[in-house]
Amino acid sequence: MSVFNVELKRVVDDSYEIEVGHGLEKKLISDIREGLAGNITKFAVVTDSNVKELYADRIAAMLAEQGYKCDVISFPAGETSKTRQTKEYIEDTMLEMGYRRDCCIIAVGGGVVTDIAGFVAGTYGRGVPFINYATTLLAAADASVGGKTAVDTPLATNLIGIFNQPEKVYIDISAWRTLPQRQLSSGLAETIKHACLASRELFDYLSENMERIFAFDDEVCGHIAAENCRIKYSVVMKDERESGLREVLNLGHTVGRAIETVSGYRLLHGEAVSIGLVAEVKLAAKLGYCTEEDVRLVSELLEKAKLPTAIPDYIDREALVKKLYTDKKVRDGKLRFVLQKGIGEVMGFEDGKFALPVSEETAREIIMSI
Ligand SMILES: NC(=O)c1ccc[n+]([C@@H]2O[C@H](COP(=O)([O-])OP(=O)(O)OC[C@H]3O[C@@H](n4cnc5c(N)ncnc54)[C@H](O)[C@@H]3O)[C@@H](O)[C@H]2O)c1
Repeated sequence: MSVFNVELKRVVDDSYEIEVGHGLEKKLISDIREGLAGNITKFAVVTDSNVKELYADRIAAMLAEQGYKCDVISFPAGETSKTRQTKEYIEDTMLEMGYRRDCCIIAVGGGVVTDIAGFVAGTYGRGVPFINYATTLLAAADASVGGKTAVDTPLATNLIGIFNQPEKVYIDISAWRTLPQRQLSSGLAETIKHACLASRELFDYLSENMERIFAFDDEVCGHIAAENCRIKYSVVMKDERESGLREVLNLGHTVGRAIETVSGYRLLHGEAVSIGLVAEVKLAAKLGYCTEEDVRLVSELLEKAKLPTAIPDYIDREALVKKLYTDKKVRDGKLRFVLQKGIGEVMGFEDGKFALPVSEETAREIIMSI
Protein backbone atom coordinates (compact mmCIF):
# COMPACT_ATOMS: atom_id res chain seq x y z
CA MET A 1 0.00 0.00 0.00
CA SER A 2 1.24 3.51 -0.63
CA VAL A 3 0.03 6.89 0.45
CA PHE A 4 0.44 9.91 -1.78
CA ASN A 5 0.10 13.22 -0.09
CA VAL A 6 -1.78 15.79 -2.18
CA GLU A 7 -0.70 19.14 -0.78
CA LEU A 8 -3.17 21.85 -1.65
CA LYS A 9 -2.82 24.96 0.41
CA ARG A 10 -4.92 27.80 -0.84
CA VAL A 11 -4.39 31.51 -0.60
CA VAL A 12 -7.52 33.11 -2.01
CA ASP A 13 -8.35 36.75 -2.52
CA ASP A 14 -12.13 36.90 -2.82
CA SER A 15 -12.37 40.63 -2.16
CA TYR A 16 -15.01 42.55 -4.05
CA GLU A 17 -16.61 45.98 -4.16
CA ILE A 18 -20.20 46.87 -3.38
CA GLU A 19 -21.25 50.03 -5.16
CA VAL A 20 -24.36 51.81 -3.90
CA GLY A 21 -25.94 54.39 -6.20
CA HIS A 22 -28.69 55.35 -8.62
CA GLY A 23 -29.14 53.75 -12.05
CA LEU A 24 -25.83 51.91 -12.09
CA GLU A 25 -26.31 50.18 -15.46
CA LYS A 26 -23.82 52.44 -17.26
CA LYS A 27 -21.31 51.97 -14.46
CA LEU A 28 -21.65 48.19 -14.77
CA ILE A 29 -20.94 48.34 -18.50
CA SER A 30 -17.95 50.64 -18.09
CA ASP A 31 -16.55 48.40 -15.31
CA ILE A 32 -16.86 45.38 -17.62
CA ARG A 33 -15.09 47.29 -20.39
CA GLU A 34 -12.35 48.11 -17.93
CA GLY A 35 -11.83 44.45 -17.03
CA LEU A 36 -14.19 43.62 -14.15
CA ALA A 37 -14.64 40.13 -15.63
CA GLY A 38 -11.14 39.92 -17.14
CA ASN A 39 -11.14 39.14 -20.88
CA ILE A 40 -14.57 37.54 -20.87
CA THR A 41 -16.84 38.61 -23.72
CA LYS A 42 -19.87 36.34 -23.10
CA PHE A 43 -22.45 37.27 -20.51
CA ALA A 44 -25.52 35.32 -19.42
CA VAL A 45 -27.92 37.73 -17.72
CA VAL A 46 -30.01 35.74 -15.23
CA THR A 47 -33.20 37.39 -14.02
CA ASP A 48 -36.86 36.78 -13.20
CA SER A 49 -40.08 37.50 -15.06
CA ASN A 50 -40.69 40.83 -13.28
CA VAL A 51 -37.20 42.27 -13.43
CA LYS A 52 -36.57 41.19 -17.02
CA GLU A 53 -38.40 44.07 -18.66
CA LEU A 54 -37.74 46.56 -15.88
CA TYR A 55 -33.93 46.27 -15.81
CA ALA A 56 -32.36 43.09 -17.22
CA ASP A 57 -33.29 43.57 -20.89
CA ARG A 58 -31.79 47.07 -20.80
CA ILE A 59 -28.53 45.83 -19.32
CA ALA A 60 -28.34 43.07 -21.92
CA ALA A 61 -29.00 45.56 -24.74
CA MET A 62 -26.26 47.84 -23.44
CA LEU A 63 -23.81 44.92 -23.35
CA ALA A 64 -24.79 43.84 -26.88
CA GLU A 65 -24.25 47.42 -28.10
CA GLN A 66 -20.68 47.15 -26.85
CA GLY A 67 -20.19 44.00 -28.95
CA TYR A 68 -20.46 41.41 -26.18
CA LYS A 69 -22.36 38.14 -26.62
CA CYS A 70 -25.25 38.40 -24.25
CA ASP A 71 -28.52 36.55 -23.58
CA VAL A 72 -31.21 37.03 -20.97
CA ILE A 73 -32.35 33.90 -19.14
CA SER A 74 -35.47 34.47 -17.11
CA PHE A 75 -37.55 32.31 -14.77
CA PRO A 76 -40.93 32.94 -13.09
CA ALA A 77 -40.58 35.49 -10.26
CA GLY A 78 -40.88 34.38 -6.65
CA GLU A 79 -39.42 32.16 -3.95
CA THR A 80 -41.13 29.07 -5.37
CA SER A 81 -38.70 29.28 -8.31
CA LYS A 82 -35.65 29.03 -6.08
CA THR A 83 -35.27 25.32 -6.75
CA ARG A 84 -32.87 22.77 -8.16
CA GLN A 85 -35.21 22.54 -11.17
CA THR A 86 -34.75 26.24 -11.96
CA LYS A 87 -30.99 25.86 -11.52
CA GLU A 88 -31.07 23.00 -14.01
CA TYR A 89 -33.21 25.05 -16.40
CA ILE A 90 -30.72 27.94 -16.32
CA GLU A 91 -27.77 25.58 -16.83
CA ASP A 92 -29.37 23.70 -19.70
CA THR A 93 -30.41 26.96 -21.37
CA MET A 94 -26.90 28.34 -21.06
CA LEU A 95 -25.46 25.13 -22.51
CA GLU A 96 -27.88 25.22 -25.44
CA MET A 97 -27.00 28.87 -26.04
CA GLY A 98 -23.34 27.90 -26.33
CA TYR A 99 -22.01 29.26 -23.05
CA ARG A 100 -18.95 27.36 -21.84
CA ARG A 101 -16.36 28.06 -19.17
CA ASP A 102 -15.33 31.39 -20.69
CA CYS A 103 -18.48 33.23 -19.64
CA CYS A 104 -19.68 35.40 -16.80
CA ILE A 105 -23.11 35.40 -15.20
CA ILE A 106 -24.79 38.69 -14.33
CA ALA A 107 -27.61 38.31 -11.80
CA VAL A 108 -30.14 41.13 -12.15
CA GLY A 109 -32.86 41.08 -9.52
CA GLY A 110 -33.63 40.40 -5.89
CA GLY A 111 -32.30 37.79 -3.49
CA VAL A 112 -33.93 34.87 -5.29
CA VAL A 113 -32.09 35.76 -8.50
CA THR A 114 -28.75 36.52 -6.84
CA ASP A 115 -28.90 33.34 -4.72
CA ILE A 116 -29.68 31.02 -7.60
CA ALA A 117 -27.42 32.72 -10.16
CA GLY A 118 -24.51 32.68 -7.70
CA PHE A 119 -25.07 28.95 -7.15
CA VAL A 120 -25.23 28.27 -10.90
CA ALA A 121 -22.01 30.27 -11.38
CA GLY A 122 -20.26 28.19 -8.72
CA THR A 123 -20.90 24.88 -10.47
CA TYR A 124 -21.26 25.81 -14.15
CA GLY A 125 -18.16 24.42 -15.91
CA ARG A 126 -16.79 23.92 -12.35
CA GLY A 127 -17.12 27.63 -11.74
CA VAL A 128 -17.47 30.87 -13.72
CA PRO A 129 -17.40 34.43 -12.38
CA PHE A 130 -20.60 36.28 -11.52
CA ILE A 131 -21.73 39.84 -10.85
CA ASN A 132 -24.76 40.86 -8.79
CA TYR A 133 -26.97 43.77 -9.80
CA ALA A 134 -29.35 43.96 -6.82
CA THR A 135 -32.75 45.52 -7.42
CA THR A 136 -34.50 44.96 -4.07
CA LEU A 137 -33.85 46.37 -0.62
CA LEU A 138 -33.72 42.82 0.69
CA ALA A 139 -30.95 41.88 -1.73
CA ALA A 140 -29.16 45.09 -0.82
CA ALA A 141 -29.69 44.59 2.89
CA ASP A 142 -28.66 41.02 3.10
CA ALA A 143 -28.25 38.81 0.06
CA SER A 144 -25.49 40.93 -1.53
CA VAL A 145 -22.91 40.51 1.24
CA GLY A 146 -21.52 37.24 2.50
CA GLY A 147 -21.22 34.93 -0.47
CA LYS A 148 -23.99 32.53 0.49
CA THR A 149 -25.80 31.08 -2.49
CA ALA A 150 -28.49 28.41 -2.40
CA VAL A 151 -31.74 26.89 -3.56
CA ASP A 152 -34.69 25.75 -1.46
CA THR A 153 -35.94 22.18 -1.06
CA PRO A 154 -39.42 20.92 -0.14
CA LEU A 155 -38.15 20.39 3.42
CA ALA A 156 -36.88 23.92 4.04
CA THR A 157 -35.29 26.99 2.44
CA ASN A 158 -31.63 27.38 1.45
CA LEU A 159 -30.61 23.81 2.27
CA ILE A 160 -28.53 23.18 -0.86
CA GLY A 161 -25.88 25.67 -1.90
CA ILE A 162 -22.31 26.88 -1.76
CA PHE A 163 -20.27 29.83 -0.59
CA ASN A 164 -19.36 31.80 -3.70
CA GLN A 165 -18.22 35.40 -3.87
CA PRO A 166 -19.19 37.71 -6.76
CA GLU A 167 -16.80 39.89 -8.75
CA LYS A 168 -18.78 42.96 -7.71
CA VAL A 169 -22.18 43.94 -6.33
CA TYR A 170 -24.21 46.91 -7.56
CA ILE A 171 -26.98 48.20 -5.32
CA ASP A 172 -29.28 50.30 -7.45
CA ILE A 173 -31.33 52.41 -5.04
CA SER A 174 -33.44 53.84 -7.89
CA ALA A 175 -34.75 50.33 -8.54
CA TRP A 176 -36.50 50.36 -5.15
CA ARG A 177 -39.01 52.84 -6.62
CA THR A 178 -40.61 50.15 -8.77
CA LEU A 179 -40.80 47.67 -5.88
CA PRO A 180 -44.27 46.85 -4.58
CA GLN A 181 -44.69 48.19 -1.01
CA ARG A 182 -44.82 44.66 0.47
CA GLN A 183 -41.41 43.93 -1.03
CA LEU A 184 -39.90 47.16 0.29
CA SER A 185 -41.23 46.31 3.74
CA SER A 186 -39.83 42.80 3.43
CA GLY A 187 -36.37 44.29 2.89
CA LEU A 188 -36.85 46.54 5.87
CA ALA A 189 -37.24 43.47 8.09
CA GLU A 190 -33.62 42.46 7.45
CA THR A 191 -32.55 46.07 8.01
CA ILE A 192 -34.37 46.12 11.36
CA LYS A 193 -32.73 42.78 12.20
CA HIS A 194 -29.30 44.32 11.59
CA ALA A 195 -30.23 47.24 13.86
CA CYS A 196 -31.48 44.90 16.61
CA LEU A 197 -28.31 42.85 16.62
CA ALA A 198 -25.64 45.46 16.06
CA SER A 199 -26.69 49.11 16.16
CA ARG A 200 -28.95 51.02 18.49
CA GLU A 201 -28.15 54.12 16.37
CA LEU A 202 -29.54 52.47 13.25
CA PHE A 203 -32.60 51.33 15.22
CA ASP A 204 -33.32 54.90 16.35
CA TYR A 205 -32.55 56.26 12.86
CA LEU A 206 -35.08 53.86 11.34
CA SER A 207 -37.69 54.84 13.93
CA GLU A 208 -37.18 58.51 13.10
CA ASN A 209 -36.95 58.17 9.31
CA MET A 210 -39.38 55.42 8.33
CA GLU A 211 -41.63 57.76 6.36
CA ARG A 212 -38.68 59.09 4.41
CA ILE A 213 -37.79 55.52 3.39
CA PHE A 214 -41.29 55.00 1.96
CA ALA A 215 -40.87 58.34 0.12
CA PHE A 216 -37.56 57.03 -1.37
CA ASP A 217 -35.57 59.86 0.14
CA ASP A 218 -32.09 59.57 -1.44
CA GLU A 219 -30.13 60.38 1.67
CA VAL A 220 -32.03 57.98 3.93
CA CYS A 221 -32.08 55.12 1.41
CA GLY A 222 -28.35 55.56 0.73
CA HIS A 223 -27.65 55.58 4.45
CA ILE A 224 -29.57 52.38 5.20
CA ALA A 225 -28.04 50.57 2.20
CA ALA A 226 -24.56 51.47 3.45
CA GLU A 227 -25.34 50.61 7.10
CA ASN A 228 -26.69 47.20 6.09
CA CYS A 229 -23.48 46.45 4.19
CA ARG A 230 -21.32 47.73 7.02
CA ILE A 231 -23.03 45.63 9.68
CA LYS A 232 -23.25 42.45 7.64
CA TYR A 233 -19.67 42.85 6.46
CA SER A 234 -18.36 43.36 9.98
CA VAL A 235 -19.93 40.03 11.01
CA VAL A 236 -19.11 38.05 7.86
CA MET A 237 -15.53 39.27 7.65
CA LYS A 238 -14.85 37.77 11.07
CA ASP A 239 -16.59 34.46 10.29
CA GLU A 240 -16.98 33.78 6.58
CA ARG A 241 -17.90 30.09 6.98
CA GLU A 242 -20.43 30.51 9.75
CA SER A 243 -18.56 28.70 12.49
CA GLY A 244 -19.54 31.08 15.28
CA LEU A 245 -20.18 34.80 15.10
CA ARG A 246 -22.06 34.58 11.82
CA GLU A 247 -24.85 32.81 13.68
CA VAL A 248 -25.91 36.23 14.97
CA LEU A 249 -27.29 37.01 11.50
CA ASN A 250 -29.86 34.31 12.26
CA LEU A 251 -31.65 36.59 14.70
CA GLY A 252 -35.37 36.24 13.96
CA HIS A 253 -34.69 33.50 11.41
CA THR A 254 -35.18 30.37 13.55
CA VAL A 255 -38.86 31.13 13.84
CA GLY A 256 -38.92 33.23 10.63
CA ARG A 257 -37.71 30.52 8.25
CA ALA A 258 -40.06 27.99 9.80
CA ILE A 259 -43.02 30.35 9.34
CA GLU A 260 -41.98 31.08 5.76
CA THR A 261 -42.03 27.35 4.92
CA VAL A 262 -45.17 26.46 6.90
CA SER A 263 -47.01 29.39 5.26
CA GLY A 264 -46.28 27.74 1.90
CA TYR A 265 -44.53 31.01 0.97
CA ARG A 266 -47.71 33.06 1.33
CA LEU A 267 -45.57 35.21 3.58
CA LEU A 268 -42.58 36.92 2.04
CA HIS A 269 -39.17 36.17 3.55
CA GLY A 270 -38.99 39.52 5.34
CA GLU A 271 -42.58 39.25 6.58
CA ALA A 272 -41.78 35.88 8.11
CA VAL A 273 -38.55 37.27 9.59
CA SER A 274 -40.54 40.15 11.09
CA ILE A 275 -42.76 37.73 13.02
CA GLY A 276 -39.63 35.76 13.90
CA LEU A 277 -38.01 38.91 15.33
CA VAL A 278 -41.03 39.47 17.57
CA ALA A 279 -40.97 35.84 18.73
CA GLU A 280 -37.26 35.95 19.45
CA VAL A 281 -37.23 39.30 21.26
CA LYS A 282 -40.06 37.93 23.41
CA LEU A 283 -37.97 34.84 24.09
CA ALA A 284 -35.01 37.06 25.02
CA ALA A 285 -37.28 38.98 27.42
CA LYS A 286 -38.53 35.73 28.96
CA LEU A 287 -34.93 34.64 29.54
CA GLY A 288 -34.02 38.01 31.06
CA TYR A 289 -31.80 39.39 28.27
CA CYS A 290 -34.26 42.10 27.17
CA THR A 291 -36.95 44.19 28.80
CA GLU A 292 -40.65 44.32 27.96
CA GLU A 293 -39.93 47.87 26.75
CA ASP A 294 -37.45 46.44 24.20
CA VAL A 295 -40.17 44.03 23.02
CA ARG A 296 -42.56 46.97 22.59
CA LEU A 297 -40.00 49.07 20.68
CA VAL A 298 -39.10 46.24 18.29
CA SER A 299 -42.76 45.46 17.59
CA GLU A 300 -43.55 49.15 17.03
CA LEU A 301 -40.69 49.63 14.59
CA LEU A 302 -41.78 46.57 12.60
CA GLU A 303 -45.33 47.93 12.48
CA LYS A 304 -44.01 51.31 11.27
CA ALA A 305 -42.32 49.36 8.47
CA LYS A 306 -45.77 47.91 7.60
CA LEU A 307 -44.71 44.42 8.60
CA PRO A 308 -46.76 41.70 10.33
CA THR A 309 -45.96 41.07 14.01
CA ALA A 310 -48.28 38.13 14.75
CA ILE A 311 -48.52 34.60 13.39
CA PRO A 312 -51.42 34.50 10.89
CA ASP A 313 -54.40 32.32 11.87
CA TYR A 314 -53.99 30.04 8.85
CA ILE A 315 -50.67 28.78 10.22
CA ASP A 316 -50.75 25.53 12.19
CA ARG A 317 -48.67 26.42 15.27
CA GLU A 318 -47.90 22.80 16.15
CA ALA A 319 -46.56 22.25 12.61
CA LEU A 320 -44.50 25.39 13.13
CA VAL A 321 -42.96 24.03 16.35
CA LYS A 322 -42.01 20.84 14.47
CA LYS A 323 -40.56 22.85 11.60
CA LEU A 324 -38.19 24.63 14.00
CA TYR A 325 -36.15 21.42 14.02
CA THR A 326 -35.13 21.89 10.37
CA ASP A 327 -33.13 24.97 11.47
CA LYS A 328 -29.44 24.61 10.73
CA LYS A 329 -28.50 25.71 14.26
CA VAL A 330 -30.11 22.58 15.75
CA ARG A 331 -27.38 20.52 17.50
CA ASP A 332 -27.91 17.04 18.95
CA GLY A 333 -31.63 17.41 18.37
CA LYS A 334 -31.82 20.62 20.45
CA LEU A 335 -33.30 23.91 19.29
CA ARG A 336 -30.86 26.83 19.52
CA PHE A 337 -31.72 30.54 19.32
CA VAL A 338 -29.76 33.75 18.80
CA LEU A 339 -30.93 36.20 21.44
CA GLN A 340 -30.90 39.97 21.59
CA LYS A 341 -29.23 41.70 24.51
CA GLY A 342 -31.36 44.82 24.73
CA ILE A 343 -31.43 46.61 21.38
CA GLY A 344 -28.23 46.76 19.32
CA GLU A 345 -26.40 43.78 20.80
CA VAL A 346 -26.65 39.98 20.95
CA MET A 347 -25.87 37.60 23.77
CA GLY A 348 -22.60 35.66 23.66
CA PHE A 349 -22.51 32.25 25.35
CA GLU A 350 -19.92 29.67 26.39
CA ASP A 351 -17.29 28.43 23.90
CA GLY A 352 -17.68 31.47 21.65
CA LYS A 353 -21.20 30.45 20.64
CA PHE A 354 -23.96 32.94 19.92
CA ALA A 355 -26.94 30.59 20.05
CA LEU A 356 -28.45 29.16 23.22
CA PRO A 357 -30.21 25.79 23.52
CA VAL A 358 -33.87 26.38 24.38
CA SER A 359 -36.39 23.69 25.34
CA GLU A 360 -39.24 22.86 22.97
CA GLU A 361 -41.65 23.72 25.76
CA THR A 362 -40.30 27.28 26.02
CA ALA A 363 -40.27 27.69 22.25
CA ARG A 364 -43.86 26.42 22.04
CA GLU A 365 -44.96 28.85 24.76
CA ILE A 366 -43.57 31.79 22.74
CA ILE A 367 -45.11 30.53 19.48
CA MET A 368 -48.50 30.18 21.17
CA SER A 369 -48.25 33.75 22.55
CA ILE A 370 -47.93 35.72 19.30
N1 LIG B 1 -27.61 34.92 0.25
C1 LIG B 1 -27.95 35.51 1.36
O1 LIG B 1 -27.11 35.79 2.22
C2 LIG B 1 -29.37 35.90 1.58
C3 LIG B 1 -29.69 36.75 2.62
C4 LIG B 1 -31.02 37.11 2.78
C5 LIG B 1 -31.98 36.64 1.91
N2 LIG B 1 -31.62 35.82 0.91
C6 LIG B 1 -32.63 35.29 0.00
O2 LIG B 1 -33.20 36.37 -0.72
C7 LIG B 1 -34.50 36.00 -1.13
C8 LIG B 1 -35.46 37.13 -0.89
O3 LIG B 1 -35.00 38.27 -1.58
P1 LIG B 1 -35.98 39.26 -2.33
O4 LIG B 1 -37.02 39.72 -1.40
O5 LIG B 1 -35.13 40.27 -3.01
O6 LIG B 1 -36.70 38.25 -3.33
P2 LIG B 1 -37.02 38.25 -4.89
O7 LIG B 1 -35.79 38.15 -5.68
O8 LIG B 1 -38.05 37.22 -5.06
O9 LIG B 1 -37.66 39.68 -5.18
C9 LIG B 1 -38.90 40.01 -4.64
C10 LIG B 1 -39.95 40.35 -5.72
O10 LIG B 1 -39.68 41.64 -6.21
C11 LIG B 1 -39.57 41.60 -7.64
N3 LIG B 1 -38.60 42.62 -7.96
C12 LIG B 1 -37.27 42.58 -7.78
N4 LIG B 1 -36.74 43.78 -8.03
C13 LIG B 1 -37.75 44.59 -8.40
C14 LIG B 1 -37.84 45.96 -8.74
N5 LIG B 1 -36.77 46.76 -8.69
N6 LIG B 1 -39.05 46.47 -9.06
C15 LIG B 1 -40.17 45.66 -9.05
N7 LIG B 1 -40.15 44.39 -8.70
C16 LIG B 1 -38.95 43.85 -8.37
C17 LIG B 1 -39.20 40.19 -7.95
O11 LIG B 1 -39.57 39.83 -9.25
C18 LIG B 1 -39.97 39.42 -6.90
O12 LIG B 1 -41.29 39.25 -7.33
C19 LIG B 1 -34.86 34.74 -0.36
O13 LIG B 1 -34.78 33.65 -1.23
C20 LIG B 1 -33.79 34.64 0.71
O14 LIG B 1 -33.50 33.33 1.08
C21 LIG B 1 -30.35 35.44 0.72
